[in-house]
Amino acid sequence: MSTSLQTVTDIVAAPGAGQAALLQALLAVQDASPENYVSEEAVNEIAHLLGISRSRVYSTASFYSVISLKPRGRHIVRICINAPCENAGKQAVLAALEQELGVGLGGTTPDGRFTLEGVSCLGACYMSPAIKIDKQLYGDLTAEAAVAVIRRYREEENIGHTA
Ligand code: FES
Repeated sequence: MSTSLQTVTDIVAAPGAGQAALLQALLAVQDASPENYVSEEAVNEIAHLLGISRSRVYSTASFYSVISLKPRGRHIVRICINAPCENAGKQAVLAALEQELGVGLGGTTPDGRFTLEGVSCLGACYMSPAIKIDKQLYGDLTAEAAVAVIRRYREEENIGHTA
């Protein structure tokens, strides 16, 4: 059994787990996936373990934008595209990210490191324009600062690969 499916088994086996465990299971499986998504195999296993239909698992996964049914990069770069961030300079930040990563919104870099996504709000309106990489928020960004953040991730990964 894969690590992610063991995670699902653990969630379902937890005291009080039931149908409400579905979203939790989807998020846990996605977190455990190196490609940041919920595979068809995982959907089947979740449906089996929770005793619900595959279509219900799919519809729940499709409803929540935070869950992906397609492989993505190791790091998810989310940029807020709502008005407060728009007014604070989001367009320049987005253009810089697209140029630095070489992909548009919804795209994944060829090396599989980053997926760039637009979201309606990151809950960080007080520091617009904002982005979130995985679980880390970055706010009050300029185009240059956003590019520096991406380069820092690359450098840290490169160091990790050579260590
Ligand atoms: S509007 Fe951009 S973080 Fe809320």
